Amino acid sequence: MSEQYSISPNGEEFALPKPGDYKTEFETIKKRVKSERAKGREIVVVMGVGFVGAVMAAIVADTVDSKGKPSKFVIGMQRPSLRSFWKIPMLNRGVSPVKAEDPEVDPMIERCVNKKKTLMATYTYDVLKLADIVVVDVQCDYIKEELGNVRAGQTDMAALEASLGVIAEHIQPEALVLIETTVAPGTTEQVAYPIMKKTFTKRGIKSDPLLAHSYERVMPGRNYVASIRDFWRVCSGINEEAKKRVVKFLTEVLNTKKFPLTVMDRPIESETAKIVENSYRATILAFLDEWSLFAERNGVDLVKVIKAIKMRPTHSNMIFPGPGIGGYCLPKDGGLGVWAYKHILGFEDDIFRITPMAIDINDTRGLHVGQLTRDALRNMGKPIAASDVLVLGAAYREDVGDTRYSGSETVIRKLAEMGAEIRVHDPYVEHWWEFEQQDTYPGIGQSKSQFFRNQEKLKEIRIEQNLNKALKGAEAVILAVPHSAYMDLDPDKVVKTIGQPAAIIDCFGILTDDKIRRYFQLGCEVKGLGRGHIQRIKEETRKT
Ligand SMILES: NC(=O)c1ccc[n+]([C@@H]2O[C@H](COP(=O)([O-])OP(=O)(O)OC[C@H]3O[C@@H](n4cnc5c(N)ncnc54)[C@H](O)[C@@H]3O)[C@@H](O)[C@H]2O)c1
Repeated sequence: MSEQYSISPNGEEFALPKPGDYKTEFETIKKRVKSERAKGREIVVVMGVGFVGAVMAAIVADTVDSKGKPSKFVIGMQRPSLRSFWKIPMLNRGVSPVKAEDPEVDPMIERCVNKKKTLMATYTYDVLKLADIVVVDVQCDYIKEELGNVRAGQTDMAALEASLGVIAEHIQPEALVLIETTVAPGTTEQVAYPIMKKTFTKRGIKSDPLLAHSYERVMPGRNYVASIRDFWRVCSGINEEAKKRVVKFLTEVLNTKKFPLTVMDRPIESETAKIVENSYRATILAFLDEWSLFAERNGVDLVKVIKAIKMRPTHSNMIFPGPGIGGYCLPKDGGLGVWAYKHILGFEDDIFRITPMAIDINDTRGLHVGQLTRDALRNMGKPIAASDVLVLGAAYREDVGDTRYSGSETVIRKLAEMGAEIRVHDPYVEHWWEFEQQDTYPGIGQSKSQFFRNQEKLKEIRIEQNLNKALKGAEAVILAVPHSAYMDLDPDKVVKTIGQPAAIIDCFGILTDDKIRRYFQLGCEVKGLGRGHIQRIKEETRKT
């Protein structure tokens, strides 16, 4: 068999392990674990070192006891898939597999791997045999089959079910299994428990698996680490022992003195809390979509409206919705809940109206940006077809490198459908796999390309990381993500770098009125989501 390589985002190739490597790897780790145990350290295996698992693993590895001594030894465990294997050798060097703006992430991983020596990563499931605690951070997906219709979709928990099966085959009966994955409510008791119990019975283990659930509220970005460590957690366990163990573990590794735990009676309550929490957020964001259109059509600036309302403390969590609500969580979590009601909990009626509608609105919000771009270019006498359109920002939110379900993807797919030539800049994203590998990513048949025409050439999208280079010659510039790099752009410099007046589309309320005015003075056309007052500024500029 020829050697296979997993390629990291910066292009480094790592050979996948060969069958003979597993045994040696496990023997080496076994010895290491023995010496770690002798130091009184608990062994924690974190399954899945993705956006959540990698940082959670480091936080656990950074834990010290009352005397200031490291009290945990953490093994990040990751499938050696072509797409993800590179994360293991990277972590073992002390390099974070996730790119983040939070200055705590890189030094924390470096410190735990190379100085404290409390963190390592591996590909062998056998390490589960050595665990006192297993933290599950693998993904649980929701696959949508139509654009703007979340009901026509289903939960894909294959990775989670596979992980639970493997865990049950390997762990010691008394190991705590903490599911942090966001799951369809009912999963811990009605999916995880039976999978594990059956395997335990086959292994001759009489006790129940010690299963617990505690969902992550991690917010990648500037406060990545603090959003896990210094934040409130909700948890529960399948029985009293599991509950006791999960409370003990979370109290040791998180800052629960300042951010106390909420312990629920049953895992389904913790699971539901996560789904309701995110559906609430998705709903308030979706709610503003119709008011954003209202604002655009009636000379109202939604940015100022929101600012005015937020003065009321009861309404302080209003947020400008942007070109779609991306990220791994908000577009799917409500879907997990609606799906679970029928497929795990067994109800036949349909009680959900708001939750799916919110997701559908958020999923299609980006399409409107195509219209704004078309109109702005038309006002400059240019057809959108064959226009050179630069999209600033690929990530789903500001100052992160995560492109999953980002609003920008929908914007680009719509623009491509309308014939525009697309270029992209993002300081945090090196490869936009949703385009580059759209035939297979995020899975075969799962790309949003299936919902649009004329998508083939988008495979050629490569992200430019130099903003000046990106701007050169653009006919339209879409401010799609409020990355810090885009917040203070000076209109004079932008137009000078572009080399000509351009259509400027503001998707996030980034431009101040002064800047909008200046762009008009420089001969540009400006449009923005929810920014109906732009027309007024345009007319005022024309008069002077
Ligand atoms: N990213 C966020 O902002 C965020 C926030 C809150 C909650 N969550 C939840 O946390 C969970 C994990 O999300 P994520 O963003 O880290 O996902 P991710 O895709 O970045 O990470 C999952 C990792 O698990 C690995 N994996 C899959 N199957 C495996 C197996 N059988 N054995 C070992 N490893 C396996 C994958 O290769 C991947 O590296 C999800 O349920 C998500 O909804 C995420």
